[in-house]
Amino acid sequence: MRINQVCVLGGSGFVGSAIVHKLSAAGYAVKVLSRRREKSKHLTLLPNVQVVECDILSDAELGSHMQSCDAVINLIGILHESAKVTFEQMHHQLPARVADLCERHGIRRLLHMSALQTSPDAPSAYLRSKAAGEAAVMAHKGSINITIFQPSVIFGRDDSFLNLFATVVKLMPVIALAKPDAKFQPIWVEDVADAFVNSLDNVDTYGKTYQLGGPRVYTMRELVEFVIFVLGKKRKIVGLNDKLSYWQAYAMEKLPLKLMTRDNFYSMQVDSVCQTAVAPELGIKPTAIEVVVPEYLANDTPRAAYNRFRGMAGR
Ligand SMILES: NC(=O)c1ccc[n+]([C@@H]2O[C@H](COP(=O)([O-])OP(=O)(O)OC[C@H]3O[C@@H](n4cnc5c(N)ncnc54)[C@H](OP(=O)(O)O)[C@@H]3O)[C@@H](O)[C@H]2O)c1
Repeated sequence: MRINQVCVLGGSGFVGSAIVHKLSAAGYAVKVLSRRREKSKHLTLLPNVQVVECDILSDAELGSHMQSCDAVINLIGILHESAKVTFEQMHHQLPARVADLCERHGIRRLLHMSALQTSPDAPSAYLRSKAAGEAAVMAHKGSINITIFQPSVIFGRDDSFLNLFATVVKLMPVIALAKPDAKFQPIWVEDVADAFVNSLDNVDTYGKTYQLGGPRVYTMRELVEFVIFVLGKKRKIVGLNDKLSYWQAYAMEKLPLKLMTRDNFYSMQVDSVCQTAVAPELGIKPTAIEVVVPEYLANDTPRAAYNRFRGMAGR
């Protein structure tokens, strides 16, 4: 099966942008479906990339945009629910509808983004909804060539993880840290993007689910200490026990800008660590945070920010 045109859902986001850049560089024609074309402006100047506004809640609209494509990559996901947008809708119903539409329109290749530690019994609604989405997608295994990815937390220039820690470190002399012993295996966004693009045409990846993690496991405390070190600051970290971590999440959940929710706290009850090494057929050798992160966190001058915005705008 030769893949020419790839439809990307969630292509405007942090991971999606990295994948779209690599798909474009590899010569694929890429159709990014986005709620707002404006949000994907940084992609429109890339060769062979088309950004199309689409209401992903409408089967008719979604199907009409997908049908000209040979493969679909679904990256749509949310970290926090709202009254209008739920995990069930985005992580379960949407992947199920995308897989149905692939089958209906004869699209034989589907790459689906999930997360590490998904399970129907997982402690958080986020992880349970991702598990339901995986099952709904894999139900089409007989007729569609499916690959599912389960990354640990993903880092990169525009991440909302280490950049968030950096903001907190800059603002607070003392850091009250929830779940200081929770474990993560951060993976670089460029490695995740390579895993997606390398597997697109690789029959060995059909029907498989891959865990993705970086070369080292860190506790939450070690990650914040690393950010403090990179920024050249001196800060005191006060680790919160589970009870205080819960109440911190509860309080933050009430703020307009949700930095953390109780569901995020529940997600951290299970370590975000891979049980298996990165599969060789994905063709990646994960890069450590120490190699990449200082370049974007420590280099946060106005000139660096300007260059970053220019890069995002493709200029
Ligand atoms: N970042 C991580 O550390 C991490 C770790 C594990 C798994 N993941 C998974 O990887 C995927 C991508 O994550 P990301 O960090 O790149 O997220 P992101 O930057 O927030 O991008 C998510 C994309 O989903 C689309 N989207 C969000 N809410 C939507 C809604 N209500 N309706 C329609 N589309 C919506 C957006 O597309 P438009 O705005 O263009 O419509 C956006 O481009 C997600 O499925 C996430 O769960 C991420």
